Amino acid sequence: EPSADVRWLGTPISALKRMPECGGEPPPLKDIPGKHTVMIMTDLLHKGTAPIPSPAKFQDTWDDVHVKMPCSKENLFPVIDECVIQNKILLTIYESLLKYNASNAKKWDFTALSLYCCKVTVSPFLLQPIPLLKRGMNHSITMSQEQAACLLANAFFCTFPRRNSRKAEYSNFPDINFFRLFEGSSPKKIEKLKTLMCYFKSVTEQKPTGLVTFTRKVLDKSPIWRSSQTRLTKLHITCEGTIEDDGSGMLQVDFANKFVGGGVTSTGLVQEEIRFLINPELIVSRLFTEALDDNECLIITGTQQFSKYTGYSQTYQWGGSHQDATPRDGWQRRCTEIVAIDAMQFRNFLEQFHLDKITRELNKAYCGFSRPDTDSKNLAAVATGNWGCGVFGGDTRLKALLQMLAAAEAGRDVAYFTFGDNRLMTDVNNMHSFLTQRNISVG
Ligand code: AR6
Repeated sequence: EPSADVRWLGTPISALKRMPECGGEPPPLKDIPGKHTVMIMTDLLHKGTAPIPSPAKFQDTWDDVHVKMPCSKENLFPVIDECVIQNKILLTIYESLLKYNASNAKKWDFTALSLYCCKVTVSPFLLQPIPLLKRGMNHSITMSQEQAACLLANAFFCTFPRRNSRKAEYSNFPDINFFRLFEGSSPKKIEKLKTLMCYFKSVTEQKPTGLVTFTRKVLDKSPIWRSSQTRLTKLHITCEGTIEDDGSGMLQVDFANKFVGGGVTSTGLVQEEIRFLINPELIVSRLFTEALDDNECLIITGTQQFSKYTGYSQTYQWGGSHQDATPRDGWQRRCTEIVAIDAMQFRNFLEQFHLDKITRELNKAYCGFSRPDTDSKNLAAVATGNWGCGVFGGDTRLKALLQMLAAAEAGRDVAYFTFGDNRLMTDVNNMHSFLTQRNISVG
Protein backbone atom coordinates (compact mmCIF):
# COMPACT_ATOMS: atom_id res chain seq x y z
CA GLU A 1 0.00 0.00 0.00
CA PRO A 2 1.37 3.43 -0.81
CA SER A 3 1.40 5.88 2.03
CA ALA A 4 -1.28 8.49 1.68
CA ASP A 5 1.22 11.32 1.42
CA VAL A 6 2.65 10.04 -1.87
CA ARG A 7 0.87 12.22 -4.41
CA TRP A 8 2.80 11.33 -7.56
CA LEU A 9 5.17 8.65 -8.92
CA GLY A 10 7.46 8.20 -11.91
CA THR A 11 9.13 11.08 -13.72
CA PRO A 12 8.65 14.56 -12.22
CA ILE A 13 6.11 16.52 -14.23
CA SER A 14 8.66 19.29 -14.77
CA ALA A 15 10.65 16.88 -16.97
CA LEU A 16 7.76 16.45 -19.45
CA LYS A 17 7.49 18.64 -22.55
CA ARG A 18 4.88 21.36 -23.04
CA MET A 19 3.94 23.83 -25.75
CA PRO A 20 5.00 26.44 -26.68
CA GLU A 21 8.51 25.66 -25.33
CA CYS A 22 8.91 22.25 -26.98
CA GLY A 23 7.46 22.98 -30.43
CA GLY A 24 8.62 24.88 -33.45
CA GLU A 25 6.58 27.76 -34.89
CA PRO A 26 3.71 26.64 -37.16
CA PRO A 27 4.24 27.30 -40.90
CA PRO A 28 2.66 30.50 -42.27
CA LEU A 29 -1.15 30.27 -42.04
CA LYS A 30 -2.74 29.85 -45.44
CA ASP A 31 -5.87 28.44 -47.01
CA ILE A 32 -5.17 25.15 -48.83
CA PRO A 33 -8.11 23.99 -50.98
CA GLY A 34 -9.29 20.53 -49.97
CA LYS A 35 -7.09 20.53 -46.86
CA HIS A 36 -7.38 23.67 -44.77
CA THR A 37 -10.22 26.19 -44.81
CA VAL A 38 -9.16 29.52 -43.32
CA MET A 39 -12.09 31.84 -42.57
CA ILE A 40 -10.08 35.04 -42.04
CA MET A 41 -7.70 37.29 -44.00
CA THR A 42 -4.33 35.75 -43.15
CA ASP A 43 -2.26 38.73 -44.32
CA LEU A 44 -4.10 41.00 -41.88
CA LEU A 45 -3.46 38.82 -38.85
CA HIS A 46 -1.89 40.81 -36.04
CA LYS A 47 -1.40 40.18 -32.37
CA GLY A 48 -4.09 41.78 -30.20
CA THR A 49 -6.36 43.02 -33.01
CA ALA A 50 -9.52 41.28 -34.19
CA PRO A 51 -8.92 39.18 -37.33
CA ILE A 52 -10.83 40.26 -40.48
CA PRO A 53 -13.28 37.71 -41.94
CA SER A 54 -12.54 36.44 -45.43
CA PRO A 55 -13.72 36.81 -48.17
CA ALA A 56 -15.08 40.35 -48.29
CA LYS A 57 -18.62 39.37 -49.37
CA PHE A 58 -21.03 36.65 -48.17
CA GLN A 59 -20.96 33.49 -50.31
CA ASP A 60 -24.30 31.77 -50.05
CA THR A 61 -23.94 28.00 -50.28
CA TRP A 62 -26.72 25.46 -49.67
CA ASP A 63 -25.47 21.95 -50.40
CA ASP A 64 -24.61 18.71 -48.64
CA VAL A 65 -20.92 19.41 -48.12
CA HIS A 66 -21.23 22.72 -46.25
CA VAL A 67 -22.97 23.93 -43.10
CA LYS A 68 -26.40 25.37 -43.94
CA MET A 69 -26.30 28.88 -42.53
CA PRO A 70 -29.19 30.74 -40.85
CA CYS A 71 -28.66 33.75 -43.12
CA SER A 72 -28.89 31.80 -46.40
CA LYS A 73 -31.59 32.88 -48.82
CA GLU A 74 -32.48 29.18 -49.14
CA ASN A 75 -33.44 29.02 -45.48
CA LEU A 76 -37.22 28.65 -45.26
CA PHE A 77 -37.15 30.59 -42.02
CA PRO A 78 -34.61 33.21 -42.97
CA VAL A 79 -33.01 35.30 -40.32
CA ILE A 80 -33.00 38.48 -42.35
CA ASP A 81 -32.17 40.58 -39.38
CA GLU A 82 -31.00 38.36 -36.58
CA CYS A 83 -32.06 40.96 -34.09
CA VAL A 84 -35.63 39.94 -34.94
CA ILE A 85 -35.14 36.87 -32.76
CA GLN A 86 -33.67 38.71 -29.86
CA ASN A 87 -36.26 41.43 -30.17
CA LYS A 88 -38.96 38.78 -29.94
CA ILE A 89 -37.43 37.58 -26.73
CA LEU A 90 -37.18 41.16 -25.50
CA LEU A 91 -40.80 41.76 -26.46
CA THR A 92 -41.82 38.82 -24.32
CA ILE A 93 -39.87 40.21 -21.38
CA TYR A 94 -41.36 43.63 -22.02
CA GLU A 95 -44.91 42.29 -22.19
CA SER A 96 -44.58 40.47 -18.90
CA LEU A 97 -43.08 43.53 -17.27
CA LEU A 98 -45.99 45.53 -18.60
CA LYS A 99 -48.42 43.20 -16.88
CA TYR A 100 -46.89 43.83 -13.50
CA ASN A 101 -45.81 47.38 -13.94
CA ALA A 102 -48.20 49.00 -16.36
CA SER A 103 -47.50 52.61 -15.49
CA ASN A 104 -43.70 52.47 -15.59
CA ALA A 105 -42.97 49.93 -18.28
CA LYS A 106 -44.46 52.08 -21.02
CA LYS A 107 -41.80 54.70 -20.34
CA TRP A 108 -38.93 52.26 -20.21
CA ASP A 109 -36.52 52.06 -23.08
CA PHE A 110 -34.84 48.76 -23.96
CA THR A 111 -32.47 49.98 -26.64
CA ALA A 112 -29.28 49.18 -24.75
CA LEU A 113 -30.44 45.67 -23.91
CA SER A 114 -31.48 45.10 -27.49
CA LEU A 115 -28.13 46.34 -28.80
CA TYR A 116 -26.33 44.16 -26.28
CA CYS A 117 -28.21 41.11 -27.48
CA CYS A 118 -27.47 41.92 -31.13
CA LYS A 119 -23.82 42.51 -30.61
CA VAL A 120 -22.58 39.00 -31.29
CA THR A 121 -25.38 37.50 -33.30
CA VAL A 122 -25.44 39.48 -36.53
CA SER A 123 -23.27 37.68 -38.98
CA PRO A 124 -21.04 39.92 -41.04
CA PHE A 125 -18.48 37.62 -39.41
CA LEU A 126 -19.08 34.44 -41.40
CA LEU A 127 -18.85 35.09 -45.08
CA GLN A 128 -17.35 31.88 -46.32
CA PRO A 129 -19.17 28.53 -46.45
CA ILE A 130 -18.00 26.17 -43.69
CA PRO A 131 -17.17 22.69 -44.97
CA LEU A 132 -18.67 19.73 -43.16
CA LEU A 133 -15.93 17.51 -41.71
CA LYS A 134 -17.35 14.21 -42.88
CA ARG A 135 -16.25 10.61 -42.31
CA GLY A 136 -12.90 9.82 -43.86
CA MET A 137 -11.85 13.45 -44.39
CA ASN A 138 -8.49 14.88 -43.36
CA HIS A 139 -9.37 18.54 -43.16
CA SER A 140 -8.83 21.61 -40.94
CA ILE A 141 -10.96 24.69 -40.36
CA THR A 142 -9.41 27.80 -38.82
CA MET A 143 -11.69 30.62 -37.67
CA SER A 144 -11.48 33.58 -35.33
CA GLN A 145 -12.74 33.36 -31.78
CA GLU A 146 -15.17 36.09 -32.77
CA GLN A 147 -16.57 33.90 -35.56
CA ALA A 148 -16.87 31.04 -33.07
CA ALA A 149 -18.82 33.37 -30.75
CA CYS A 150 -21.16 34.29 -33.59
CA LEU A 151 -21.80 30.61 -34.37
CA LEU A 152 -22.42 29.85 -30.70
CA ALA A 153 -24.86 32.75 -30.36
CA ASN A 154 -26.78 31.26 -33.28
CA ALA A 155 -26.68 27.84 -31.60
CA PHE A 156 -28.03 29.43 -28.43
CA PHE A 157 -30.95 30.95 -30.35
CA CYS A 158 -31.43 27.66 -32.25
CA THR A 159 -31.21 29.27 -35.67
CA PHE A 160 -29.24 26.61 -37.58
CA PRO A 161 -31.63 25.26 -40.22
CA ARG A 162 -32.34 21.52 -40.47
CA ARG A 163 -30.78 21.00 -37.06
CA ASN A 164 -33.84 20.96 -34.78
CA SER A 165 -34.78 17.33 -35.35
CA ARG A 166 -32.63 14.27 -35.98
CA LYS A 167 -33.89 13.75 -39.54
CA ALA A 168 -31.91 11.95 -42.22
CA GLU A 169 -29.75 14.83 -43.42
CA TYR A 170 -27.84 15.47 -40.18
CA SER A 171 -28.63 12.21 -38.36
CA ASN A 172 -24.93 11.35 -38.11
CA PHE A 173 -23.97 14.78 -36.68
CA PRO A 174 -24.16 16.01 -33.08
CA ASP A 175 -26.93 18.44 -32.09
CA ILE A 176 -25.87 22.06 -32.34
CA ASN A 177 -28.96 24.11 -31.49
CA PHE A 178 -29.29 24.51 -27.72
CA PHE A 179 -33.04 23.74 -27.36
CA ARG A 180 -32.51 20.71 -25.11
CA LEU A 181 -30.41 22.81 -22.75
CA PHE A 182 -33.44 24.90 -21.88
CA GLU A 183 -35.83 22.05 -21.03
CA GLY A 184 -36.51 20.48 -17.62
CA SER A 185 -35.87 21.87 -14.17
CA SER A 186 -32.71 20.05 -13.10
CA PRO A 187 -30.26 22.16 -11.05
CA LYS A 188 -27.49 20.75 -13.30
CA LYS A 189 -29.03 22.62 -16.25
CA ILE A 190 -28.93 25.89 -14.30
CA GLU A 191 -25.22 25.43 -13.62
CA LYS A 192 -24.58 24.62 -17.30
CA LEU A 193 -26.46 27.76 -18.34
CA LYS A 194 -24.52 29.89 -15.85
CA THR A 195 -21.28 28.57 -17.35
CA LEU A 196 -22.35 29.43 -20.89
CA MET A 197 -23.76 32.84 -19.96
CA CYS A 198 -20.39 33.66 -18.42
CA TYR A 199 -18.85 32.96 -21.84
CA PHE A 200 -21.35 35.16 -23.71
CA LYS A 201 -20.91 37.96 -21.19
CA SER A 202 -17.16 37.76 -21.49
CA VAL A 203 -17.00 37.77 -25.32
CA THR A 204 -19.52 40.63 -25.62
CA GLU A 205 -17.69 42.78 -23.08
CA GLN A 206 -14.30 42.14 -24.57
CA LYS A 207 -13.88 40.71 -28.04
CA PRO A 208 -11.41 37.82 -28.06
CA THR A 209 -8.77 38.32 -30.76
CA GLY A 210 -7.35 34.87 -31.40
CA LEU A 211 -7.99 31.95 -33.74
CA VAL A 212 -9.11 28.36 -33.24
CA THR A 213 -8.35 25.37 -35.52
CA PHE A 214 -10.49 22.23 -35.83
CA THR A 215 -8.76 19.26 -37.52
CA ARG A 216 -10.40 15.99 -38.41
CA LYS A 217 -7.73 13.31 -38.71
CA VAL A 218 -7.95 9.81 -40.16
CA LEU A 219 -5.35 7.17 -39.33
CA ASP A 220 -4.18 6.04 -42.75
CA LYS A 221 -1.89 3.27 -41.59
CA SER A 222 -2.19 1.56 -38.19
CA PRO A 223 1.02 0.28 -36.57
CA ILE A 224 1.70 -3.46 -36.61
CA TRP A 225 1.36 -3.64 -32.85
CA ARG A 226 2.41 -7.24 -32.43
CA SER A 227 5.89 -6.72 -33.90
CA SER A 228 6.61 -3.20 -32.65
CA GLN A 229 10.11 -2.83 -31.17
CA THR A 230 9.33 0.57 -29.64
CA ARG A 231 10.20 1.07 -25.94
CA LEU A 232 7.93 2.80 -23.46
CA THR A 233 8.32 6.53 -22.93
CA LYS A 234 8.34 8.43 -19.63
CA LEU A 235 5.39 8.35 -17.25
CA HIS A 236 4.37 10.88 -14.62
CA ILE A 237 1.39 9.60 -12.65
CA THR A 238 -0.51 11.48 -9.98
CA CYS A 239 -3.70 11.12 -7.97
CA GLU A 240 -4.01 14.90 -7.73
CA GLY A 241 -4.96 17.55 -10.25
CA THR A 242 -6.79 17.51 -13.57
CA ILE A 243 -5.92 17.33 -17.25
CA GLU A 244 -7.00 20.93 -17.86
CA ASP A 245 -5.25 22.52 -14.86
CA ASP A 246 -2.04 20.55 -14.68
CA GLY A 247 -1.67 19.51 -18.32
CA SER A 248 -1.35 23.02 -19.76
CA GLY A 249 0.69 22.98 -22.96
CA MET A 250 0.41 19.19 -23.23
CA LEU A 251 -1.84 17.30 -25.62
CA GLN A 252 -5.00 17.11 -23.51
CA VAL A 253 -7.32 14.16 -24.00
CA ASP A 254 -11.08 14.67 -24.26
CA PHE A 255 -12.84 11.44 -23.16
CA ALA A 256 -15.19 11.84 -26.06
CA ASN A 257 -18.35 10.47 -27.54
CA LYS A 258 -18.24 9.65 -31.27
CA PHE A 259 -20.66 12.58 -31.51
CA VAL A 260 -18.12 15.11 -30.20
CA GLY A 261 -19.26 16.99 -27.11
CA GLY A 262 -21.57 14.12 -26.11
CA GLY A 263 -24.43 15.48 -24.03
CA VAL A 264 -23.13 19.04 -23.63
CA THR A 265 -26.23 20.65 -25.18
CA SER A 266 -28.56 18.31 -23.27
CA THR A 267 -28.08 16.45 -19.99
CA GLY A 268 -24.47 15.16 -19.96
CA LEU A 269 -22.06 16.57 -17.39
CA VAL A 270 -18.90 14.44 -17.10
CA GLN A 271 -15.34 15.00 -18.35
CA GLU A 272 -16.12 15.87 -22.00
CA GLU A 273 -19.19 17.97 -21.34
CA ILE A 274 -17.45 19.93 -18.56
CA ARG A 275 -14.52 20.71 -20.84
CA PHE A 276 -16.90 21.89 -23.58
CA LEU A 277 -18.68 24.14 -21.07
CA ILE A 278 -15.59 25.80 -19.64
CA ASN A 279 -14.00 26.10 -23.13
CA PRO A 280 -17.23 26.77 -25.09
CA GLU A 281 -15.48 27.24 -28.45
CA LEU A 282 -15.18 23.44 -28.44
CA ILE A 283 -18.98 23.31 -28.92
CA VAL A 284 -18.55 24.83 -32.40
CA SER A 285 -17.11 21.48 -33.55
CA ARG A 286 -20.62 20.01 -33.21
CA LEU A 287 -21.79 22.18 -36.08
CA PHE A 288 -19.65 20.43 -38.69
CA THR A 289 -18.06 17.23 -37.29
CA GLU A 290 -19.76 14.01 -38.39
CA ALA A 291 -19.63 11.09 -35.92
CA LEU A 292 -16.06 9.79 -35.56
CA ASP A 293 -15.19 6.40 -37.00
CA ASP A 294 -12.95 3.86 -35.23
CA ASN A 295 -9.83 5.22 -36.94
CA GLU A 296 -10.56 8.96 -36.56
CA CYS A 297 -10.12 11.79 -34.07
CA LEU A 298 -10.76 15.54 -33.86
CA ILE A 299 -7.98 17.89 -32.75
CA ILE A 300 -8.98 21.35 -31.51
CA THR A 301 -6.21 23.92 -31.06
CA GLY A 302 -6.58 27.37 -29.53
CA THR A 303 -9.75 27.30 -27.42
CA GLN A 304 -9.86 29.53 -24.37
CA GLN A 305 -11.10 28.68 -20.88
CA PHE A 306 -13.73 31.20 -19.75
CA SER A 307 -15.11 29.55 -16.57
CA LYS A 308 -13.95 27.71 -13.48
CA TYR A 309 -15.98 24.89 -11.95
CA THR A 310 -16.27 22.83 -8.80
CA GLY A 311 -17.72 19.35 -8.29
CA TYR A 312 -18.36 16.76 -10.97
CA SER A 313 -21.48 15.37 -12.63
CA GLN A 314 -24.33 15.64 -10.06
CA THR A 315 -22.34 18.06 -7.90
CA TYR A 316 -21.03 20.24 -10.76
CA GLN A 317 -21.23 23.99 -10.13
CA TRP A 318 -20.12 26.97 -12.16
CA GLY A 319 -17.19 28.48 -10.25
CA GLY A 320 -16.97 32.00 -11.67
CA SER A 321 -15.17 33.47 -14.64
CA HIS A 322 -11.64 32.41 -15.53
CA GLN A 323 -8.86 34.61 -16.91
CA ASP A 324 -6.99 32.39 -19.36
CA ALA A 325 -3.32 33.38 -19.49
CA THR A 326 -2.21 30.64 -21.93
CA PRO A 327 0.29 32.12 -24.43
CA ARG A 328 -0.62 32.30 -28.14
CA ASP A 329 1.23 30.67 -31.03
CA GLY A 330 2.19 32.22 -34.39
CA TRP A 331 -1.41 31.84 -35.60
CA GLN A 332 -2.69 33.74 -32.56
CA ARG A 333 -4.11 30.54 -31.09
CA ARG A 334 -3.95 29.73 -27.39
CA CYS A 335 -1.40 26.93 -26.91
CA THR A 336 -4.16 24.55 -25.79
CA GLU A 337 -4.41 21.41 -27.89
CA ILE A 338 -7.30 19.08 -27.10
CA VAL A 339 -7.90 15.77 -28.85
CA ALA A 340 -11.32 14.14 -28.92
CA ILE A 341 -10.99 10.35 -28.94
CA ASP A 342 -14.01 8.18 -28.19
CA ALA A 343 -13.40 4.96 -26.29
CA MET A 344 -15.69 1.98 -26.77
CA GLN A 345 -18.60 1.56 -24.40
CA PHE A 346 -18.52 -1.83 -22.70
CA ARG A 347 -21.64 -3.32 -21.17
CA ASN A 348 -20.00 -6.72 -20.68
CA PHE A 349 -16.76 -6.18 -18.71
CA LEU A 350 -14.73 -9.01 -20.28
CA GLU A 351 -15.46 -7.90 -23.84
CA GLN A 352 -12.72 -5.26 -23.73
CA PHE A 353 -9.99 -7.91 -23.36
CA HIS A 354 -10.74 -9.39 -26.79
CA LEU A 355 -7.94 -8.71 -29.24
CA ASP A 356 -10.13 -6.88 -31.75
CA LYS A 357 -11.32 -4.46 -29.05
CA ILE A 358 -7.78 -3.94 -27.77
CA THR A 359 -6.59 -3.18 -31.30
CA ARG A 360 -9.46 -0.76 -31.83
CA GLU A 361 -8.59 1.20 -28.67
CA LEU A 362 -4.85 1.18 -29.46
CA ASN A 363 -5.50 2.56 -32.94
CA LYS A 364 -7.95 5.18 -31.68
CA ALA A 365 -5.46 6.45 -29.08
CA TYR A 366 -2.58 6.30 -31.58
CA CYS A 367 -4.64 8.29 -34.11
CA GLY A 368 -5.13 10.96 -31.43
CA PHE A 369 -1.50 11.04 -30.23
CA SER A 370 0.64 10.56 -33.35
CA ARG A 371 1.79 13.48 -35.50
CA PRO A 372 3.57 11.89 -38.48
CA ASP A 373 4.79 15.26 -39.77
CA THR A 374 6.40 16.37 -36.49
CA ASP A 375 9.70 15.25 -35.00
CA SER A 376 9.17 13.41 -31.70
CA LYS A 377 11.51 15.85 -29.91
CA ASN A 378 9.03 18.67 -30.64
CA LEU A 379 5.98 16.78 -29.31
CA ALA A 380 4.48 17.69 -25.94
CA ALA A 381 3.51 14.95 -23.50
CA VAL A 382 0.00 13.50 -23.52
CA ALA A 383 -2.12 14.59 -20.53
CA THR A 384 -4.71 11.91 -19.92
CA GLY A 385 -6.40 9.74 -17.29
CA ASN A 386 -9.22 7.23 -16.97
CA TRP A 387 -10.26 7.40 -20.62
CA GLY A 388 -13.37 5.28 -21.26
CA CYS A 389 -13.50 4.15 -17.63
CA GLY A 390 -16.38 6.20 -16.24
CA VAL A 391 -19.65 6.26 -18.15
CA PHE A 392 -18.17 3.87 -20.73
CA GLY A 393 -17.33 1.15 -18.21
CA GLY A 394 -13.73 0.37 -19.21
CA ASP A 395 -11.04 -1.12 -16.97
CA THR A 396 -8.59 1.54 -15.75
CA ARG A 397 -5.52 -0.72 -15.66
CA LEU A 398 -6.03 -2.03 -19.17
CA LYS A 399 -6.80 1.43 -20.56
CA ALA A 400 -3.77 2.97 -18.84
CA LEU A 401 -1.55 0.32 -20.42
CA LEU A 402 -3.08 0.76 -23.88
CA GLN A 403 -2.63 4.53 -23.69
CA MET A 404 1.02 4.12 -22.61
CA LEU A 405 1.63 1.83 -25.62
CA ALA A 406 -0.07 4.24 -28.05
CA ALA A 407 1.86 7.20 -26.63
CA ALA A 408 5.16 5.29 -26.89
CA GLU A 409 4.45 4.41 -30.51
CA ALA A 410 3.65 8.09 -31.15
CA GLY A 411 6.91 9.14 -29.46
CA ARG A 412 5.34 11.07 -26.58
CA ASP A 413 5.64 10.94 -22.78
CA VAL A 414 2.53 10.57 -20.60
CA ALA A 415 1.16 12.58 -17.67
CA TYR A 416 -1.59 10.44 -16.15
CA PHE A 417 -4.18 11.87 -13.73
CA THR A 418 -5.93 9.14 -11.73
CA PHE A 419 -8.59 11.55 -10.40
CA GLY A 420 -8.04 10.74 -6.72
CA ASP A 421 -7.27 7.04 -7.08
CA ASN A 422 -4.13 6.34 -5.02
CA ARG A 423 -4.14 2.57 -5.59
CA LEU A 424 -4.39 3.01 -9.36
CA MET A 425 -1.44 5.42 -9.27
CA THR A 426 0.74 2.76 -7.62
CA ASP A 427 -0.43 -0.10 -9.81
CA VAL A 428 0.08 1.72 -13.10
CA ASN A 429 3.47 3.01 -11.98
CA ASN A 430 4.51 -0.54 -11.00
CA MET A 431 3.37 -1.82 -14.38
CA HIS A 432 5.39 0.90 -16.14
CA SER A 433 8.52 0.21 -14.03
CA PHE A 434 8.24 -3.53 -14.61
CA LEU A 435 8.10 -3.07 -18.39
CA THR A 436 10.84 -0.45 -18.64
CA GLN A 437 13.26 -2.23 -16.26
CA ARG A 438 13.02 -5.38 -18.38
CA ASN A 439 13.30 -3.33 -21.57
CA ILE A 440 10.04 -4.81 -22.88
CA SER A 441 8.82 -3.47 -26.22
CA VAL A 442 5.33 -2.36 -27.24
CA GLY A 443 4.94 -5.55 -29.30
N1 AR6 B 1 -9.10 15.25 -15.43
C1 AR6 B 1 -8.68 13.98 -15.27
N2 AR6 B 1 -9.50 12.92 -15.11
C2 AR6 B 1 -10.83 13.14 -15.11
C3 AR6 B 1 -11.36 14.45 -15.28
C4 AR6 B 1 -10.44 15.53 -15.45
N3 AR6 B 1 -10.85 16.79 -15.60
N4 AR6 B 1 -12.71 14.35 -15.23
C5 AR6 B 1 -13.00 13.06 -15.06
N5 AR6 B 1 -11.89 12.31 -14.96
P1 AR6 B 1 -15.95 9.96 -18.31
P2 AR6 B 1 -15.82 7.93 -20.48
C6 AR6 B 1 -11.78 10.83 -14.79
O1 AR6 B 1 -16.97 9.10 -17.64
O2 AR6 B 1 -15.98 6.74 -19.57
C7 AR6 B 1 -19.41 11.65 -21.90
O3 AR6 B 1 -20.80 11.79 -21.89
C8 AR6 B 1 -12.78 10.27 -13.78
O4 AR6 B 1 -12.12 9.21 -13.09
O5 AR6 B 1 -16.34 11.34 -18.69
O6 AR6 B 1 -14.86 7.85 -21.61
C9 AR6 B 1 -18.88 11.56 -23.31
O7 AR6 B 1 -19.56 12.42 -24.19
C10 AR6 B 1 -13.90 9.73 -14.67
O8 AR6 B 1 -14.62 8.68 -14.08
O9 AR6 B 1 -15.37 9.24 -19.67
C11 AR6 B 1 -19.11 10.12 -23.64
O10 AR6 B 1 -20.45 9.89 -24.04
C12 AR6 B 1 -13.08 9.20 -15.85
O11 AR6 B 1 -12.08 10.22 -16.03
C13 AR6 B 1 -18.85 9.43 -22.32
O12 AR6 B 1 -19.07 10.43 -21.31
C14 AR6 B 1 -13.89 8.97 -17.09
O13 AR6 B 1 -14.66 10.09 -17.43
C15 AR6 B 1 -17.43 8.97 -22.20
O14 AR6 B 1 -17.27 8.26 -21.02
